[in-house]
Amino acid sequence: MTSVLTDEKIPNNVNLGSDKRLQRALEAWQPQFIDWWKQMGPVGWQDRDIYLRTAVSVETDGWAHFDYVKMPDYRWGIFLEPKQEGRTHGFGDHYGQPVWDEVPGEFRNLLRRLIVTQGDTEPASVEQQRALGATAPSLYDLRNLFQVNVEEGRHLWAMVYLLQTYFGRDGREEAEELLARRSGDADKPRILGAFNEPTSHWLSFFMFTMFTDRDGKYQLSALAESGFDPLARTCRFMLTEEAHHMFVGESGVQRVVKRACELMKSTGDPRAAGGIDLPTIQKYANLWYSLSLDLFGGEVSSNAADAFAAGIKGRYKEDRYDEHKLVGSHVAMDVLEGGKVVHKDIAMRNALNEVLRTEYIKDCQRGVERWNKTIRDEGVTFELTLPSNKFHRQIGMWAGTCFTPAGEMIDAATFAARRGEWLPNEADEAFVKSLMRPVYEPGKMASWIAPPLKGINGLPNEFVYVRP
Ligand SMILES: [Fe+2]
Ligand SMILES: [Fe+2]
Repeated sequence: MTSVLTDEKIPNNVNLGSDKRLQRALEAWQPQFIDWWKQMGPVGWQDRDIYLRTAVSVETDGWAHFDYVKMPDYRWGIFLEPKQEGRTHGFGDHYGQPVWDEVPGEFRNLLRRLIVTQGDTEPASVEQQRALGATAPSLYDLRNLFQVNVEEGRHLWAMVYLLQTYFGRDGREEAEELLARRSGDADKPRILGAFNEPTSHWLSFFMFTMFTDRDGKYQLSALAESGFDPLARTCRFMLTEEAHHMFVGESGVQRVVKRACELMKSTGDPRAAGGIDLPTIQKYANLWYSLSLDLFGGEVSSNAADAFAAGIKGRYKEDRYDEHKLVGSHVAMDVLEGGKVVHKDIAMRNALNEVLRTEYIKDCQRGVERWNKTIRDEGVTFELTLPSNKFHRQIGMWAGTCFTPAGEMIDAATFAARRGEWLPNEADEAFVKSLMRPVYEPGKMASWIAPPLKGINGLPNEFVYVRP
């Protein structure tokens, strides 16, 4: 039986009991994590029964166990995909050589930085979303929020496992720092910008899980290729959980879009009827998409080149490519030169952030096309679009230069004057927040969102996902 929770203190498939030093270190960190969860995790609801899935193994057909659980009792565990014997480096300077089971000294700092940066995003998002339980549009959505939150907690465990196992004292210190930084805090902020923006309402939550969790998918996919085998195996399993987070985002926005269309047809004015109109949805997509593009880092990056050369961070699905060393190859991309956009060849290794971002953009585009299909199916004429990758950037080559959503360069004054047409303004934010009233009756939905197509784990929409 794989779907049974063991009675170990920390559920795991890494034979934790055989490494007493590590087990003690993690058992010492566990109460600190629970303290952090109670202090910075969801506000309220901690003593309620929530219908949650818990990872209990890595078997594809039985990895998750669904049941009611109180969040502080959630069994956060450590699960790595099984080791593939004989696995070799799939890219970079060590291509074809056996992968590493220990951290190579020369890449220790680079690896630690990557693991800490990934790890920091996990508790950050829980902190960003902590107040949302007060305004959930349904019990179904409330449960999905908490599912995402507990799994981000597990992802933090996954990164802390790597730090504690492979990085000695530094790793233990980093594990504590991960619980000490706070999203949006002036003195001790989270590491990445998008993880310090508040997720102040449910439209932003859905956009976050659509666009920002999807960045997570691409970062984890690149790390899942790593020649540091424990990192690769950890990230592969995290991707299994991540898929649900993006489903919450994409289907959440899709339901808001559907409701907007229904209200447009019945009343002509979604806002007056308690919905969110499509142009406002577009502005929030512009905001969260552009914030998420920043997470991939600079367009031309020597860090990306170093991590690839070292065999630590690869490309999305590296085995789709024929060439895995990328020495002497180039890619043509837009760059800013002398205040102008020019298209030119960049050394491939230096362009790898942009290569990963390009895969991400295609994936986002597929989601937007599904939203547009919903709009067409409703018989409404409107098209949602992704803005240009140069629009509203704060990191990388395009930061500091202003562009329209269509990608046309404009001066800062024009951008400032038109900003409120493209990004949520204060009135939009106030309006969306005014709609955020909780609906906790089983099966009922708030006015601004359509019901889901189906419930969780084959259950109906009116299932009591959170017990009163
Ligand atoms: Fe995560
Ligand atoms: Fe996630």
